Amino acid sequence: MSLKLGVLCSGRGTDLQSIIDAISAKKLDAEIAIVLTDRPNVPALIRAEKAKIENICVDRKQFSDQKAFEGKLLDHLFRVGVDLVVLAGFMRLLSSKFIRAYPNKIMNIHPALLPNFPGTHAQRDALEYGVKISGCTIHFIDEGMDTGPIILQAAVPVLEDDTEETLSRRILEEEHKLYPRAIQLYAEGRLKIEGRRVRILEELL
Ligand code: GAR
Repeated sequence: MSLKLGVLCSGRGTDLQSIIDAISAKKLDAEIAIVLTDRPNVPALIRAEKAKIENICVDRKQFSDQKAFEGKLLDHLFRVGVDLVVLAGFMRLLSSKFIRAYPNKIMNIHPALLPNFPGTHAQRDALEYGVKISGCTIHFIDEGMDTGPIILQAAVPVLEDDTEETLSRRILEEEHKLYPRAIQLYAEGRLKIEGRRVRILEELL
């Protein structure tokens, strides 16, 4: 039985699309059981709908507090029997309670080389700081912001005439290759967390 993913998004959904495409190209042995968003009418929902994946908006604004909102997300994830929660441009911090429901089973993608430039404006922060190399990071979620054990990273050079938009676009190209690879490693049982380090085990022949 293939790995069941629950993908959480907030907007555009191009990282989600890269996972959908990798599954249909048989480069990723998983199925997306559900796509959940915290905002209504976002492109991620349309992408899921086109791929015939169950998609639901759990609109944060309709909930009085974080606990009730996260409770609804968890209801859906449990209902469809998700093995791994994939945050793909999901712009909210999750509480410890949520994280404890899926220990070491929540992945996130971040558009910088962590631990540099955590938070919501990673590409702008990298440009403003003046780094010559940035990139993207896939990590497991822990209770901090963008602090969990790192699974994979890809470096992207910062070019002389880069703007936030051009740098973001080039980083995004790498994101779209990296996320399906990280999930495939997980699906193959090849990610072993040892403290802060995620060891990538040899492929079993
Ligand atoms: C991506 O660049 C992702 O790395 C970033 O949001 C974008 C989502 O794009 N995530 C974060 O900044 C999380 N802190 P998408 O909606 O097209 O997939």
